[in-house]
Amino acid sequence: MARPPIWLMRQAGRYLPEYRALRQQAKSFLELCYTPDLAAEITLQPVRRYGMDAAILFSDILVITDALGGSVEFVEGQGPQLIPFRERADLARLSLADLPGHLEPVYATLRRLRRQLPPEVALIGFAGAPWTVAAYMVEGHGSKEFAQARTLARRDPACFAALIDLLTEATTVHLLAQIDAGAQVVQLFDSWAGVLPEPEFVRWCQEPAARIVTALKRARPAVPVIAFPRGAGALSRAYLDAVPVDGLSLDTTMPLDWARRTLGRVCLQGNLDPVALLVGGRTMLDEAERIVAALAGSRFVFNLGHGVLPETDPGSVAALVAYIKSLRLPVPEQATEARPL
Ligand code: CP3
Repeated sequence: MARPPIWLMRQAGRYLPEYRALRQQAKSFLELCYTPDLAAEITLQPVRRYGMDAAILFSDILVITDALGGSVEFVEGQGPQLIPFRERADLARLSLADLPGHLEPVYATLRRLRRQLPPEVALIGFAGAPWTVAAYMVEGHGSKEFAQARTLARRDPACFAALIDLLTEATTVHLLAQIDAGAQVVQLFDSWAGVLPEPEFVRWCQEPAARIVTALKRARPAVPVIAFPRGAGALSRAYLDAVPVDGLSLDTTMPLDWARRTLGRVCLQGNLDPVALLVGGRTMLDEAERIVAALAGSRFVFNLGHGVLPETDPGSVAALVAYIKSLRLPVPEQATEARPL
């Protein structure tokens, strides 16, 4: 008998009082990300409080943009603010040359975490996928539609392709360095994959992810890679055929029977609605139970369908972890393989 492992996207962050206390010690969010003792401590907070099965590095998908020379600022209450990338000339501001040096504190954080974490807790590294990072760069801030990014991709596809190619290379370098610093699993966040029609999805999400994951698999074949093409829906099937990942993170809208039948050859992860966690109590546990019942027969990691919301009660997270840890499920056949996921 066994239970699925559990960790949560955005398990560290503003909903935790101990995060808010440390946040005040740094001038800015990016300074937190680049200060190894603080970033390591924030990574450990939810592991200590809840006994999560995995620690996800405390960092952000936009550190890549910062390292390439695109200016990024996190403004309290407004999210990331960037100087917009709108034309070919904007490429001149960006360079891969300083990336490894600029992101060295991130790798130092991972080395420190690997020493501090108990061996049974997996350390997860991550990066944003090129489309999602490019979408923030072109828009200059968050958005629900990313209309500017979708416009540039059509008006000047060669310019947009040059940005995507640069980000593809930067992401590969960044993930390899994270693995070499101690990340045992890596996740590629494509949070805005769902705003693209199929041909654009294939070109800007699927093909770059295929290049990144193929390069990782060639260089570090034993390290599991999880993709999170949020909102990909039915396009996830072709995505999995093209991108050699070990795990797929499912957003809240994914029908689980379909996912198990169509995508279940890889380890599935997800997909509790963060709003169910926010509501907590019986509602949350009933929804978690439905997910467990649907996915229990496959290799499966319990998680949310998107990140923990800042208004979440830390007590609800404790109740969710206790519920998952109380489960005793029949072991799926594939679980006998020695794999960390
Ligand atoms: O999951 C974790 O606990 C690890 C840390 C992590 C952060 N961001 C910390 C963070 C991870 C994995 C991310 C990924 C990330 N960052 C994504 C992909 C996942 C997703 O949520 O879709 C995206 C799109 C970003 C970009 C980003 N960073 C935005 C839009 C914002 C502002 C909105 C918000 O949620 O605050 C951030 C800031 C950010 N990243 C915070 C944290 C803890 C909040 C900063 C603060 O005010 O203290």
